[in-house]
Amino acid sequence: MAGKENAHGCEWWKSAVIYQIYPRSFFDSNGDGIGDLRGIIEKLSYLENLGIDAIWLSPVLKSPQDDNGYDISDYRDIDPMFGDGKDMEDLIAQAKKHKIRIIMDLVLNHSSDEHAWFQEAKKSRDNPYHDYYVWRDGKEGKAPNDMRAVFGGPAWEWVPEVGQYYFHQFSVKQPDLNWENPKLRTELYDMINWWIQKGAGGFRLDVIDQIAKEPDRRITGNGPKLHEYIREMSRETFQKADLVTVGEAWSATPELAERYSNPDHSELSMVFQFEHICLDQIEGKEKWDLAPLPFLRLKEVCEKWQTQLYQKGWNSLFWNNHDLPRIVSRWGNDREYRTESAKMLAILLHGMQGTPYIYQGEELGMTNVQYEIEEYRDIETLGMYRERLEQGLDKESVMRSIHAKSRDNARTPMQWDDSENAGFTTGTPWIKVNPNYRQIHAADQIGDTESVFWCYKELIRLRKEYPVFVDGKFQMLFKEHSAIFAYTRTDETAELLVLCNFFGDTVSCPMETDADRKLLIGNYRDVDSYGRTLRPYEARIYLKEKQVN
Ligand code: GLC
Ligand code: CA
Repeated sequence: MAGKENAHGCEWWKSAVIYQIYPRSFFDSNGDGIGDLRGIIEKLSYLENLGIDAIWLSPVLKSPQDDNGYDISDYRDIDPMFGDGKDMEDLIAQAKKHKIRIIMDLVLNHSSDEHAWFQEAKKSRDNPYHDYYVWRDGKEGKAPNDMRAVFGGPAWEWVPEVGQYYFHQFSVKQPDLNWENPKLRTELYDMINWWIQKGAGGFRLDVIDQIAKEPDRRITGNGPKLHEYIREMSRETFQKADLVTVGEAWSATPELAERYSNPDHSELSMVFQFEHICLDQIEGKEKWDLAPLPFLRLKEVCEKWQTQLYQKGWNSLFWNNHDLPRIVSRWGNDREYRTESAKMLAILLHGMQGTPYIYQGEELGMTNVQYEIEEYRDIETLGMYRERLEQGLDKESVMRSIHAKSRDNARTPMQWDDSENAGFTTGTPWIKVNPNYRQIHAADQIGDTESVFWCYKELIRLRKEYPVFVDGKFQMLFKEHSAIFAYTRTDETAELLVLCNFFGDTVSCPMETDADRKLLIGNYRDVDSYGRTLRPYEARIYLKEKQVN
């Protein structure tokens, strides 16, 4: 099925805004310190008020939680930490009443080592499940090669019972699934169809570009059979219903994204690409460090994706997720211009073409944290801390990297109000609440038209009101300007002009924002209508409607 159309005459997810929930940090309904499904149900009116169309739910399936649920031990059961199957059904049904769909997170590259399949697989080489995973004999008592796992250590683990190594791209508790095995693939498709029957509104596919790995050739991303597998999966599952699908693809280029998001629906609706997010990341060994933002490069990359996918594919738009530091701390100013810069980043992103994703707390301008090492919980952060100290780096510099980059920056509890623990839990939170919750919280912002929350709410509303937000063609302006990010979006009915000062100094505006443009949104109260200057982090969107004969 091609997908139902919305009021703008395109697939519903093209005018949708999707909100990501990291369940363990969203809202705790029973005081055990961990967010849960009932907690999400309690907050559905908050989300409806914001105006979002769907929730991407990070994994809530049964898991030993080695990587916070990205290590699944039963794909059809809910982890008791989050609730049970009934709670999940209720969430889907209740969300529907608020016109919100639930997008599940599918982790198909690997399972938990505690999954029944793996328990069987490691019993013997001729166990029927053995071939569900990726095994190699090794050479003279040594691993088949020196590939490393993302969270540190070797990518191979020896199992004496079978006398073989299994391959794991992530933690040792996340063995890679063997997609070459057609039985495994069929089993996964059955499971996906089961969730479609349960009413899932779509799927986010974890590290989908890594499923077609070929470790003998050291291939992890973009294996030769990748698109064959995705097309098969799409045919067997997604295409049978009206769903949105988004693949996480760190290795995607615009050319690859055209294939993934081909309008013929043969693969996925869209992918998360990360080119715009990795710009200030130093590649290679030092991948964990951030350099100053190369601003002109950011503009180039955004322009490239906006232009190349126009009418040939579909973009996702995001600054944040559960793996990334908070954008207001990274590229905005989380001190004196926190509100202005958080809004500027929102306006800049939501003006572009694609489906915007909001990560929980982003709509409040939540910030990074600077904790002591004992207060971190993330497996990647802790692994990298250990590895770097072993390499002889000094603790201070390691902590600086962690403060800038740790995934826990995004995982601190949602800040609901200024009561104890930000109103997230009545118990002891599984991870410390950001100490700034007394200043930054939802209760303070919901009714305040000058809040970050309100800005997001307005941006969502505008997207629904003006089709040009959905289909307008992108054109970058002032490419060489060292502080301004500006572009237009044009269709037959209108032209949008998006003007953003990306930094903290006032700059003069390189164009006149003439009187026939209507100001749709801005992040300063007293907008001077001729807009001769752009104040620190100032951002505005103007609309010029065309005469229709
Ligand atoms: C994805 C997830 C991340 C997880 C990894 C392994 O990148 O977003 O949180 O650790 O895959 O599943
Ligand atoms: Ca709970």
